[in-house]
Amino acid sequence: MAGRVIVVDHPVVQHKLTQMRRRETPSGDFRRLLREISTLFAYEVTRDLPVTTVEIETPVAQMMAPVLADRSMCFVSILRAGNGIVDGMLDVLPNARVGHIGLYRDPETLVAVEYYFKIPEDAHQRHMVVADPMLATANSAIAAVRRLKEIGPRSMKFVCLVASPEGVASFHAEHPDVPIYTASVDERLNDHGYIVPGLGDAGDRIFGTK
Ligand code: PRP
Ligand code: URA
Repeated sequence: MAGRVIVVDHPVVQHKLTQMRRRETPSGDFRRLLREISTLFAYEVTRDLPVTTVEIETPVAQMMAPVLADRSMCFVSILRAGNGIVDGMLDVLPNARVGHIGLYRDPETLVAVEYYFKIPEDAHQRHMVVADPMLATANSAIAAVRRLKEIGPRSMKFVCLVASPEGVASFHAEHPDVPIYTASVDERLNDHGYIVPGLGDAGDRIFGTK
C-alpha cells in the first residue's frame, strides 16, 4: 500500500511558510506564523470528520443544522517543536485531548531517543493527529507513531510543516496507513540530516534557544 501525502498548497499557507523560512524572521514571528498555519492544517485534517444534524431555532425559523458527530480528537505533540502546531490546532478544536511524546534526535546517530510519554487515557477511542514541524530522516516520527499505535486509536494522521522526500519514503515504508499532511516536500536532506532548503532547527526557532 502506498502512503498518502497531502500537500496543503493553500496560498495563505505557502505565503506564511515563506516568511518562516527566512533566516531573519525572529522567534516571536516564527511562533505566531506556525500557530496560524496550524489552524489551517486543523481544517484539512478534520475535513473527513462525520457530521450529523440537530434541530435548532434561529431568530427567524427552525432548521436542521449540521454539527460534528464525532468530537473525539486527540492531538499528540512530538516535543518540543510539535507544541507549536498543536497550539494552533487547539485554537480550532479547543475540546480536543492532547498527548505529548518527548523525543530528541541524537546529533551523531540521528536516532530518536524517547524521554517522555503522556497520552490521554481514552486515546484509543479517539482520532489521533500526531504533530511535528519537521519530517527529516523521519526517525522521530516513525518511533512516535510506532509507540502510539500500541494504544490503538480509531485513526491516525501525521502533520508536519516541511518534509524531506527521504523522510516521506522512510515513514511510509513503516507506516503506509498513516497519511502525511504537509505544507511542503522539500528537495533533500543534507549530510547532517537537515532539510534543504528547509527552515533550520524548528525547536530552536520556536523557542529562541540558539
Ligand atoms: C527536530 C524536529 C523533529 C526531528 C525531526 O527535533 O522537531 O522532532 O528533529 O528529525 P528526524 O525526522 O530526522 O527525526 P529535535 O530532535 O531537534 O528535538 P527538539 O524538538 O527538542 O528540538
Ligand atoms: N530538525 C529540524 O528542526 N530541522 C531539520 O531540518 C531537521 C531536523
